[in-house]
Amino acid sequence: MDIRIFNTFEEASRFAADRVCERILAKPNLVLGLATGETPLQLYRELVERFGRGDVDFSKVTTFNLDEYLGLPPDHPQSYRYFMDRNLISHINIPRERTHVLDGMTRDAEKTCREYEAAIAEAGGIDIQILGIGGSGHIAFNEPGSTFDSRTRVVDLSEDTIRANSDGRFFKDPAEVPRQALSMGLGTIMEAKEILLLASGKRKANAIRTSLEGLPTPDVPASILQRHRAAHLFIDGAAAFRLTQTTSDHR
Ligand code: GLP
Repeated sequence: MDIRIFNTFEEASRFAADRVCERILAKPNLVLGLATGETPLQLYRELVERFGRGDVDFSKVTTFNLDEYLGLPPDHPQSYRYFMDRNLISHINIPRERTHVLDGMTRDAEKTCREYEAAIAEAGGIDIQILGIGGSGHIAFNEPGSTFDSRTRVVDLSEDTIRANSDGRFFKDPAEVPRQALSMGLGTIMEAKEILLLASGKRKANAIRTSLEGLPTPDVPASILQRHRAAHLFIDGAAAFRLTQTTSDHR
């Protein structure tokens, strides 16, 4: 894995934005996998800025988001559809019909998940997948214990994840957080041709260490990325501070 440790998270996000823009330049109809949460916000701001400067054209790009809360309508301020619209989609020239987020209000979740997988395949697969990481090492909503071959499905959120998402940054109270979500599986994510995982801050340091050091295990979902041919980790010093010398020599 390519691990790069940056002095500031802003630099890491800028580096990731450069990578995404380079890829769009090389392939204007790029299929981009998107993540939510606090982590990719600076990357999205960078992309919007670059679009504003005329450096990148999203008109032929297609996007697929990793996950969505089950039971939240698209106009709910905490839904991931709303998040994407507010932080990226509404600021760039991507046709809305090419931006895909799982339908949190579906009455037939299995069908929705099956159709999502089919839509990704029909688009030619994901070229670059953006990822954050949860404190437990989860990616998307693949909680510890998710199998490495899991596909898009309904998942139960762990108490940890519910707490992390209700510390005031997103939901204000754990009781408001949906207990389930729809999420791409680890198998789905691993099929992306390239993966960019971003992480910032001390609260991610343990997850970063357990994901990179030791053998891949479903107990730490992100550890599966060790088996990916083109997984890149762009992290700041705080997120890297628990890495042993051997791992951080990769910087
Ligand atoms: C949620 C999301 C993940 C995200 C994680 C970390 O569980 N489903 O995709 O990576 O939170 O979020 P943050 O970036 O806010 O720390």
